[in-house]
Amino acid sequence: MARILSGIQPSGTLHIANYFAMMKRMIEYQNDNELFCFIVNYHAMTSNQEGDRLRNYTLEAAMDFLALGLDPDRAYFWVQSDVPEVTELTWVLSCHTSLGLLERSHSYKDKVARGIVPNTGLFTYPVLMAADILLYQAEIVPVGRDQKQHVEITRDIAIRFNNLYGDIFTLPEPRISDDVAVIPGTDGQKMSKSYGNTIDIFEDEKSLKKKVMKIVTDSTPVEEPKNPEVCNLFALYRLFAAPDAVETMRVRYLNGSVGYGEVKKELVGLIRDYFAPFRKKREELAGDPGEVIRILAKGAEKTRAVAVTTMDRVKEVTGLKYAGK
Ligand code: TRP
Repeated sequence: MARILSGIQPSGTLHIANYFAMMKRMIEYQNDNELFCFIVNYHAMTSNQEGDRLRNYTLEAAMDFLALGLDPDRAYFWVQSDVPEVTELTWVLSCHTSLGLLERSHSYKDKVARGIVPNTGLFTYPVLMAADILLYQAEIVPVGRDQKQHVEITRDIAIRFNNLYGDIFTLPEPRISDDVAVIPGTDGQKMSKSYGNTIDIFEDEKSLKKKVMKIVTDSTPVEEPKNPEVCNLFALYRLFAAPDAVETMRVRYLNGSVGYGEVKKELVGLIRDYFAPFRKKREELAGDPGEVIRILAKGAEKTRAVAVTTMDRVKEVTGLKYAGK
């Protein structure tokens, strides 16, 4: 029974790479762990300064998680900004974090190299993420490879803090899921909102069809052998098909008895059927945002109790709490 924590940014409509890389695993963890799962709207704010968009994506991400099976009674499920202690801790940690540590962040440097004009929030993003993790004393943090350094920075910050003040924070371990290979988007690059190549989880049937038909393949004719290992379409197919169907398809690729058109048609049906059981719940929630807001408020209250315990200790040892000692 470990304490597992991870967050997802409400930076757009959630897609099938978000699902397989993060959401599905988190929902599975709620069974045998103490799960902390949250929507990191403060992080999304580093790249989104439009109120209505941030608000809508936040609510939609919550609806997606709930529809897909996240159980707010078993897990801690909340929106990051609903627990204000996280920004308090961010400040305290900032004062214990050297500038050099943040200057070495790959993620920050990559974004700047891609031409993004950074705001201060983007630079201090790893401190906010450290506060997310340390505030709740998380033991395991499942993240993608691109976020591993952020968990290492969190550890560095925690070690320094603990050295100064005693055992305040649990040291978290990153858990990188190597078995989820990179999930390709419709253009063959990594599926990502910023590349415009996503297939959304609750895509309507018409646009699902359109997107799947658009998936880029090579132009090997139907009757020629094809290599499944380098095929985007096959990479997506294997996420949705049953293991024996995947094997059959692999053989048909190799012996040239299937064309890409046929695989695409089958894939449309597979994706639709895979998410079908969750669709009704998703529609119910969309029709009753008040209920979603109630669930999130309750989630924040439950989570906040944990946050306050850590923050009290932090205030005590750092001298922010100056009375009644
Ligand atoms: N930075 C993470 C991402 O973009 C999201 C995140 C914010 C997070 N806080 C976290 C992940 C704490 C794990 C733990 O994917």
